[in-house]
Amino acid sequence: MNGVNIGTNFQNEVRELPFSLRMCGHFLFLGFAILIIQSKAFQNFTGHKLLGMVPRNSAEVKTLRDLLEDPEVDFWMEPTHELQNVTVHVAPESHRKLEGKLRNMGLHYHTITDNLEEWIEREREENYPGSHLEGRDAGFAFDVYHPLDEIVNYLEDVSRKHPNLTKLLNMGDTYEGNVIYLLKISSGGNDTRPAVWVDAGIHSREWIAPATALYMINHLLTGYGTDRYLTDLIDHNDFYILPLVNPDGYLHTWGWNRLWRKNRAIANGFPGVLICRGIDPNRNFDIFFGGPSTSSTPCSSIYKGDKPFSEAESSAIRDGVMSLRHRMRAYFTLHSFSQLWMTPHGYTTLKSPDFNEHMDLLRMAVSAVESIHGQKYKYGPSAETLYATSGSASDWVYDIAGVRYSFSVELRDRGAFGFLLPRTEILPTSEETWAGISTIVSRLQTKDEDAKKRTSTTSTTPVPRA
Ligand SMILES: *[C@@H]1O[C@H](CO)[C@@H](O)[C@H](O)[C@H]1NC(C)=O
Ligand SMILES: *[C@@H]1O[C@H](CO)[C@@H](O)[C@H](O)[C@H]1NC(C)=O
Ligand SMILES: *[C@@H]1O[C@H](CO)[C@@H](O)[C@H](O)[C@H]1NC(C)=O
Ligand SMILES: *[C@@H]1O[C@H](CO)[C@@H](O)[C@H](O)[C@H]1NC(C)=O
Ligand SMILES: [Zn+2]
Repeated sequence: MNGVNIGTNFQNEVRELPFSLRMCGHFLFLGFAILIIQSKAFQNFTGHKLLGMVPRNSAEVKTLRDLLEDPEVDFWMEPTHELQNVTVHVAPESHRKLEGKLRNMGLHYHTITDNLEEWIEREREENYPGSHLEGRDAGFAFDVYHPLDEIVNYLEDVSRKHPNLTKLLNMGDTYEGNVIYLLKISSGGNDTRPAVWVDAGIHSREWIAPATALYMINHLLTGYGTDRYLTDLIDHNDFYILPLVNPDGYLHTWGWNRLWRKNRAIANGFPGVLICRGIDPNRNFDIFFGGPSTSSTPCSSIYKGDKPFSEAESSAIRDGVMSLRHRMRAYFTLHSFSQLWMTPHGYTTLKSPDFNEHMDLLRMAVSAVESIHGQKYKYGPSAETLYATSGSASDWVYDIAGVRYSFSVELRDRGAFGFLLPRTEILPTSEETWAGISTIVSRLQTKDEDAKKRTSTTSTTPVPRA
């Protein structure tokens, strides 16, 4: 999900340095030290509200969109079309003002919760690490959310347990020194088989995305040699799964601020007045950098950074995809939430050259998804289905890396819990998402095999001269 909010105080930890500190280099350094300490403050969401509303016409959509630049409004679901859910998160000090504005516009809204902290604490209890939880002792449970260290341990464990099938690759170190891991799953072929890439967790508050990617790793590894369909799939494709693109941000969502979205790099605010942390790695790719729906303000939650690929997270995807581009069958990037399956482009509503085929594949995917637990997902090109995004991974993979089948998926739910998706929905979400991904991969595999058969037929059959 790509909620836009510029400089929201609870999201962005705006720090104003005292004037005297800004004057002198030494003091400025001290200022940075203060910033780092303060920005680690624990964020308690007591009294924060989540408001839901449905704009009835395009005028109401527009009025709501005018609030996108309001630093006090954190959109969880952006207003895009009439009759579509909009969800906003507001801090206690701002909701009176916002509710006044909405009432003045004549816009009906309802309170989804008037205390987000309650949801966060329930989630913390349900997923508390190192506790009583069943499954944590027996190994790695796929129906709970795991903190960073458990995820890293799992990846190291699984690569040790399956030395013939996996390889754990280090795709770079983050700003805070965490490793960005990529797990390769291959049963042979000496790097000639088509590659399927799945990444997740580029936005740290979207916990269901890494949980789903981890489920897929386990599903593939336990299915190899026991399940005919999965064995065949692995014998014909190398899977590259990057389950947690943004470990720094993820760590922050566990320890300090559950709703943190960006990475944790210190943005180049020097020597400005505002210093904020975090660059949105999904606005940091070299494709329409700085275009619609990006921000140049370091405090914005969609801050693009000062140059493309300035960040370890976007660079990790770039390097991995670039090295595999000639054999990449399909690319998938997982986000939450809204229940959407999308293809490029995000920066324009003009149809891509592969529009028709993309829509065929997406239609098959969402119907496979729905067949598992009955959940409906919408599909379409992302600028139309969601809203404009520039500098994003899926557009870059399609346009620049030249991977024809590039998909981005917004997982569950449709707004009831949003980023705080209950634990009970992890497995169902993972299962249905795998159904969608495997459907697309199988379809593309069949298509390639048919094409190969056709070329070998034409080359061996003498063509009569007319
Ligand atoms: C958050 O603040 C509320 C009210 O002050 C308090 O009751 C609650 O214990 C706090 N939660 C945490 C995790 O600190
Ligand atoms: C890995 O492959 C080798 C050679 O094919 C085989 O001898 C060995 O048992 C395999 N190891 C595991 C853990 O499957
Ligand atoms: C695998 O590929 C490399 C280079 O592409 C080659 O040197 C090597 O001999 C190949 N190994 C096998 C087992 O085919
Ligand atoms: C709107 O949100 C509610 C939950 O708040 C959900 O039940 C409903 O399905 C959503 N509608 C759409 C069209 O997404
Ligand atoms: Zn996202």
